[in-house]
Amino acid sequence: MTPEPISPAGTDAPLTAPPPGCPAHGVGVGGLRRLYGPGAENLEALYEELRAEHGPVAPALLHDDVPIWVVLGHSENMQLLRSPSHYSRDTRLWTPMLDGAVRPDHPLMPHLAWQPLCCYAEGDEHLRLRGAVGGAISTIDHRGIRRHINRATQHLVNKFCERGEADLVSQFAERLPMMVMCEILGMPEEYNDRLVAAARDLPKGTETAIESNAYIMDVLTRLTVRRRAALEDDFTSHLINHPAGLNDEEVSQHLRLILIVAYESTANLLANVLRVVLTDPRFRAQLNGGQMTVPQAVEQSMWDEPPFSTVLGYFAKQDAELGGQRIRKGDGLLMGIAPGNVDPRVRPDTKANMQGNRSHLAFSGGPHECPGQDIGRAIADVGVDALLTRLPDAELAIDEDELEWQESISNRHLVTLPVQFAPKSQQDVMAPPAHRTPSQRSSDWQISSPPPQAAAPEPSVPAPAPTPEPIRQPAGLFQRLLRWWRGD
Ligand code: HEM
Repeated sequence: MTPEPISPAGTDAPLTAPPPGCPAHGVGVGGLRRLYGPGAENLEALYEELRAEHGPVAPALLHDDVPIWVVLGHSENMQLLRSPSHYSRDTRLWTPMLDGAVRPDHPLMPHLAWQPLCCYAEGDEHLRLRGAVGGAISTIDHRGIRRHINRATQHLVNKFCERGEADLVSQFAERLPMMVMCEILGMPEEYNDRLVAAARDLPKGTETAIESNAYIMDVLTRLTVRRRAALEDDFTSHLINHPAGLNDEEVSQHLRLILIVAYESTANLLANVLRVVLTDPRFRAQLNGGQMTVPQAVEQSMWDEPPFSTVLGYFAKQDAELGGQRIRKGDGLLMGIAPGNVDPRVRPDTKANMQGNRSHLAFSGGPHECPGQDIGRAIADVGVDALLTRLPDAELAIDEDELEWQESISNRHLVTLPVQFAPKSQQDVMAPPAHRTPSQRSSDWQISSPPPQAAAPEPSVPAPAPTPEPIRQPAGLFQRLLRWWRGD
């Protein structure tokens, strides 16, 4: 099909009538589909309708009927991310922002309000800020962090293991990333329920978000002042000490960015991976049979349920063409992680296993590609593995179709993940993990699916990475123990 050359920024081109069959309530100004409200309850389905109607780049509407291009194609998303001369993350370039169509109380303002942070900067300023963040991330001791993730998991599991039941979202997935990030930033003593609640609250833009933000900023400003006075060997000290010379305001604001991005993404990832491990017979069987490692399950989840489903947004610095659409200077584009990951040109069969293929869009790409991905992966890999080791018989306490999801433009996440298991005694958090033996395994964990078939990637998709060593075979127990002690 040839998509209409529409400018969602409304600069000059005509807008189309509502597409046939569209529920009228899901259609806004100019007949464009709304990504919010009635008719947009299932964004995954809506993106597929847009793909069918317009191709890999589709015009749509954000809240208050503010126009946006949705980038649905895998290669179009890569083109967007890798063309910093054409597209920027600077929201101040966006026409609806400049002409006041995006009002200060717009529900997506937490994602849109420009701030002097690396995620909105470009060119030399991006290099300076990102250089400092990347430099500080590179000093993180990965072995030590993996050991800490394991201990933090033991600590969390100890809190509910004797009860024989737990909600793995609120009691595990929403807590482990905060414990780990507090350790990384250099403030393990600040980890508490209030910090978890504030981090969960903040990106939602709810009434309490201002209070939550004030609490988090108070904690991070105090940390910055303490470390400026006396440096230690932690992320915050390395950020302060980086030759880029960040001032205290820049340091504390970047600590906030990292805490929130890392927390939200990794909490979603942990919940998604645990849900898949508990409910998908393919994963359970393959994990049990030693064919599918936890890192592979994590990577598959990045394709199927990326922790962030979109990035809002990228903004055109000049007129351009993308996916057959004419993009005008000042137009906004929603980078489509979830729809790009299921682009039929990359994944003709979305049920096919993507083992070893890391070319998903979960961490974005180009100059703003997530610099913390190894940390996010480590929290999920080690956390899920350690939890399954402690609770090998954990199973979903409700029917799978009773699970509830909360969906927004930026992400789709589980509300709860109730599990039950035979009560277990507490374990010394400093002790090495007690690994499962074959007899401890749940008897229903059978190999019930055919061997995984990797989807045929497009030529532009990188070749599969080498398959990691399987970790769930009793023969590898000693090596695992050794690796654990070494912190690998
Ligand atoms: C599974 C976990 C994670 C996922 C899926 C994820 C995903 C993302 C995505 C999609 C972006 C936006 C890129 C763009 O603007 O195009 C991003 C940016 C960023 N992430 Fe992550 N992230 C994760 C974990 C982390 C962690 C653990 C850290 C810190 C230790 C981190 C630090 C950052 C920073 C600083 C940026 C801004 C980079 C820039 O604009 O230059 N992320 N992440």
